[in-house]
Amino acid sequence: MPKTLPKNLNFHSPVLATVAVDWLDIKQQGRYIDATLGGGGHTQEIIRRGGQVLGLDQDPEALAACPDLDQLTKVQTNFIHLGEVAREHGFQNAAGILFDLGVSQHQVEEPSRGFSWQQDGPLDMRMGTTAVTAAELINQLPEKELASIITRFGEEHQAKAIARRIVAHRPLTTTRELFSLVGRPDQGRRVFQAIRIAINDELGAVTTALPQALEVLRPGGRLVVISFHSLEDRLVKQQFAAWSSLGQGQILTAKPVLGERGSKLRAFMKKL
Ligand SMILES: C[S@@+](CC[C@H](N)C(=O)[O-])C[C@H]1O[C@@H](n2cnc3c(N)ncnc32)[C@H](O)[C@@H]1O
Repeated sequence: MPKTLPKNLNFHSPVLATVAVDWLDIKQQGRYIDATLGGGGHTQEIIRRGGQVLGLDQDPEALAACPDLDQLTKVQTNFIHLGEVAREHGFQNAAGILFDLGVSQHQVEEPSRGFSWQQDGPLDMRMGTTAVTAAELINQLPEKELASIITRFGEEHQAKAIARRIVAHRPLTTTRELFSLVGRPDQGRRVFQAIRIAINDELGAVTTALPQALEVLRPGGRLVVISFHSLEDRLVKQQFAAWSSLGQGQILTAKPVLGERGSKLRAFMKKL
């Protein structure tokens, strides 16, 4: 095997790549699930260290961008189906599972995907192919619900005023139109994050997938989760604490490991 595998850094430059894979504690020929394959940065490191990978992503562009490797099985799916997909592909009793949550750089930087407040594009923001688009959500939701999403998922104090301006200017079709109604760049970041989390049901997906991950892990197997905002990290922290108090395993990271772009990593080991 070549020492360094081809990386797809134009698509996504992985955060905490070696650290995350260190926490997975790769065993030769061990079976690992990368629940958020993206451009395959973490997966390539797992394979370089001798693991076999089942890589999931709901974004067909990620599946196409990730290199095809003998030790990798790629599946386009939402990780809410992790348990079922793992069993279908013989990855039950996995040695380790990785979630690198959120969006890829490709998704954010490609204007046609509509994730960025900094570039003009259609109001889309779907990571996969099934959710409603950002335009559908923004143009149809009652003002109160829109404000609630911006408050809950964006933690934005001006949510009510922003929702009022959005409703007064509907229908909106582009990211530039939305950003022009928001105000400052920091508010743009929070409002776009809120809408993205809502349409992709990001917190619901993590809540649904984590118990499946624990079930699919073999005894002593490791679960590593990288998150990028406090809402996600809180869910992971609470789930790990609940499992630990039920005697289902051990939290390996007393405090989260901090990485680039505000990322936090937490690791858990299923009881032997
Ligand atoms: C931060 S990127 C992962 C990057 C990857 N670790 C790498 O090294 O390139 C997150 C990826 O997870 C995918 N994703 C996010 N939520 C998902 C979900 N619920 N189901 C499946 N894929 C999801 C996104 O489409 C995106 O490609």
